[in-house]
Amino acid sequence: MTTPTSAPPALDPLVVLRGLASLRKLTGSYPAGHPMIGQKLAELEDSIAGLLQASNPIRIDVIRGDVFLDGVVSASENQANQQMLSQLSTLGIDSIHVLEGVQRDELLAVAEFLWQYTESGESMTAQLAARNVQHISLGRLLPLDTRWRSPQWADAPTGPLDPDYAESLSMAQKTWEDTASGKPLDVVTVRDLVQMLIYKVARSNAALGQILAVKQYENLTYCHSVNVAMLSLLIGKQVGLDEATLAALVEAALLHDVGKTQIPLDIVRKPGALDKAERRMIEAHTTLGAEILIQTEGLHPLTPTVALEHHRSVKGAGYPDLGEAIPHPMSQIVSVADIYEAITGARTYQAPTPPERACLILARMAGEKLNTGLVKTFVNTITFFPVGSLVRTNRNELALVVQTNRREPLHPLLTLVDEDTYKPIGQVDTSERESSGGYARHITQSLPAPDGLDLREFLEPATAA
Ligand SMILES: [Fe+2]
Ligand SMILES: [Fe+2]
Repeated sequence: MTTPTSAPPALDPLVVLRGLASLRKLTGSYPAGHPMIGQKLAELEDSIAGLLQASNPIRIDVIRGDVFLDGVVSASENQANQQMLSQLSTLGIDSIHVLEGVQRDELLAVAEFLWQYTESGESMTAQLAARNVQHISLGRLLPLDTRWRSPQWADAPTGPLDPDYAESLSMAQKTWEDTASGKPLDVVTVRDLVQMLIYKVARSNAALGQILAVKQYENLTYCHSVNVAMLSLLIGKQVGLDEATLAALVEAALLHDVGKTQIPLDIVRKPGALDKAERRMIEAHTTLGAEILIQTEGLHPLTPTVALEHHRSVKGAGYPDLGEAIPHPMSQIVSVADIYEAITGARTYQAPTPPERACLILARMAGEKLNTGLVKTFVNTITFFPVGSLVRTNRNELALVVQTNRREPLHPLLTLVDEDTYKPIGQVDTSERESSGGYARHITQSLPAPDGLDLREFLEPATAA
């Protein structure tokens, strides 16, 4: 919020919360109609009127001790405030919405309700309605609430996932949650996860397809990290890294954002623009991550470096400020994978970008922010099966790619080819799934076109369609 320091206190949501908390106490301590109650009620009414002028309804949320007015954080360092906030939270209240038209009687009724409130089977809404309160609602936020304003993306990947990929995600989720709760990073799980990604997930076209496609769910850090690890692996393989370096790359990519576990989730997931302090906090995930990783024994020495450098550009800009130092090539690989993954994933504040557009965005960043060679390699790698390429499916069918699939680059439309005559024998869509949820077909191999195969015969009908 860009409120100047001399702003009238009426625009501070804490004034409303404090007013409500004291009114609650007064109604419990003094008889109805006592002048102190009347005075507090008038003050509260004034501050609410002030806030309602700025926005209707007023939405005040308390998330981990911070007060948000209409989604914007309001500082609350003060000890007395913290006490008042924890009182409200003990009552099970951390979200208060007030609508225009609110009456003084309703404020009083809410204060009395809060004083007398004990948890019963009946919902707060029903209890308030019974007291004729229509313009105020009280509630509890879920611990991972993405807030009322954000688009409602599902929290976890939906649909049938490749089983190894699904298992990797749940391992990563657990590692993240443990680290966020203050436990040391579990190196054994990280190592298992790295092995699983390299030897199982990377071999599944279905999993790669799911990683490359847009993600219609809130792309939380643990999903993002697994995906960035897989995409970094694709690039690393393509540029010819050896197996030991690939393992180091996957580990580093998996942990590049681990510093985010130290930042309040409501800031990581905050919809809309961040203010300066919030932006600084988000940017600190690089240094926080590097600190965690340096302290963790058993990791590759480059893992903390990648966490530190992955938001730095090839020109030495970006954050954190490390002078003109150019990021390590491994950090440069992770940066390409990171940006692609972030923009093809849904966020509380942004719809996902389709892969093709994401590639264009990467291309625009090449040279300035990202390493041009790596961007080219990546873009070429993910358009695995361009139109006209000859492939073999897992059903041992020979086929030609006649149309790429924007959402699922690994599952294009094919025309099956007769092995003897090289004549087309029908089309199949490899993105189609069986009733079990798995793909009916995967492409297992890319083949050089043999002599005697006339591509036009296959491609023309599809082009015309
Ligand atoms: Fe990051
Ligand atoms: Fe990231």
